[in-house]
Amino acid sequence: MNVSTQIIPSSPTTQGQQRPDHGEFICQATDGLWVAIEKALDNGFGLVFVVGADGALIGQLTLHRMRAALRDGLHLRHTTAAELAAPWEEADAALPIVPVTDSHGRVISVERRVSASLLPVAEPDLSRNELRNLLDAFLSTWISSTGDYILEFESHFSARVDMTHGVATSNGTVSLHLALAALGIGPGDEVIVPDLTFAASANTVIHVGARPVLVDVDPVTWCVSAEAIERAVTPRTRIIMPVHLFGRPAPMTEICDLAQRHGLFVLEDCAEAHGARYDGRPIGSFSDVASFSFFANKIITTGEGGMCVTRNPELASRMKMLRDHGMRPDRRYWHEEAGFNFRMTNLQASIGCAQLQRMDDLLAMRDRVDASYRAALADLPGVVFPPPLSSRHEPVTWFSCVLVSPEIRPLLIKACREANIDLRPFVNALSTMPAYRRFARKCPVSERLAACGINLPTSRKVDENVVGRIARIFEQVMSMPAAIASSEAFLRENGM
Ligand SMILES: Cc1ncc(COP(=O)(O)O)c(C=O)c1O
Repeated sequence: MNVSTQIIPSSPTTQGQQRPDHGEFICQATDGLWVAIEKALDNGFGLVFVVGADGALIGQLTLHRMRAALRDGLHLRHTTAAELAAPWEEADAALPIVPVTDSHGRVISVERRVSASLLPVAEPDLSRNELRNLLDAFLSTWISSTGDYILEFESHFSARVDMTHGVATSNGTVSLHLALAALGIGPGDEVIVPDLTFAASANTVIHVGARPVLVDVDPVTWCVSAEAIERAVTPRTRIIMPVHLFGRPAPMTEICDLAQRHGLFVLEDCAEAHGARYDGRPIGSFSDVASFSFFANKIITTGEGGMCVTRNPELASRMKMLRDHGMRPDRRYWHEEAGFNFRMTNLQASIGCAQLQRMDDLLAMRDRVDASYRAALADLPGVVFPPPLSSRHEPVTWFSCVLVSPEIRPLLIKACREANIDLRPFVNALSTMPAYRRFARKCPVSERLAACGINLPTSRKVDENVVGRIARIFEQVMSMPAAIASSEAFLRENGM
């Protein structure tokens, strides 16, 4: 595409200033391999366009190619971006982004190509900061579960959620397991768990030998309400595990009041809602202990990883001991209890420290994506966004979500998949699955949400173009006569 506009190539002198959008995709021919790697990470698309001194396009350079160059040791000598770049004529047709050049072949902007490569529903957002920390941790040789990054991640993350102690773990499943074990939950105990959640919430209860009591979720918050919990409390109930589903905060003030009245522990599962707040307080700060996941699809990630946070120093010490085989920290190879190896590595924590510093930007990016979907899809009959919450709830966007009729959902998923866009159905209601049959209860709201919910791609790659394309696919599918009838019935049945 040729347009005659003056190009403003990125250069050290423009850094830190307002640059044209495409600047983050441009590498000078003389830039070295590491410059190109960091740029390709920071722009979020894993590639750069290499230009000569006159700004004319030389070629493109993908992280895939740069990884091969690193493996071949090309970083040991000054290898330039121009040497590594593939000529534009040989560019992979599946590139997610392409340069727009003027009549002199100079790059003046970039254009998103949606259909070229699969747009996943989630992607880790990793910048040069994560890479630098990771290299630092690697070079320190502290690559197992001791190291400064672990201590920094535990203290900074727990402070961020207004708790005083953080216990980093290998993932968000074992952090739930660790919290339950440290609180002494076991056979004969009942744990109140929402029926609509990722299976890990209930699995960990089963793994400590307790019984998950599955409670239906509220149609507005999509989380468990204090009233529904109250109805499920029995003399065997020991602990409540609210889950802040899809970034939507559960009503923690009410749940904690109820727990206090009944003498119950509270363990918040915050895997999907980093940064959300309720009654002005961060979620994760309300309970005896709260658990976070840092899996690659989460708001901040360490690849695999999790953390328990608490304000109780004894509980924190006990979780640290159980995390490390039940070994006393002051007496090597002396095991007070049969514990676990639930430790996080310093490598994972180094990524987590960089992610934590970027957390506000990552949250803002997700909110922007969600706002674009709302603007593009809100007027489409048969597409329903999550119900608005009262001002006491301050949700975050983990995945953007919509509800459609159960008949239309597979058609939308299929049509988007054919256009290389990955949509996901919501998790299944626990009560409907074989693994939880013996705990099953009637949970109509959970079942309905599970049948109607779709997670939309939520990442930096989702711009207005992508949203527009998804909106057009939705319009096409929803305008089929069968879809119209099913949507109308869906809206009627759900009072929308
Ligand atoms: C609500 C909830 N709890 C727990 C987990 C488990 O976390 P992890 O995958 O880190 O083990 C997840 C992960 O998706 C989750 O969504």
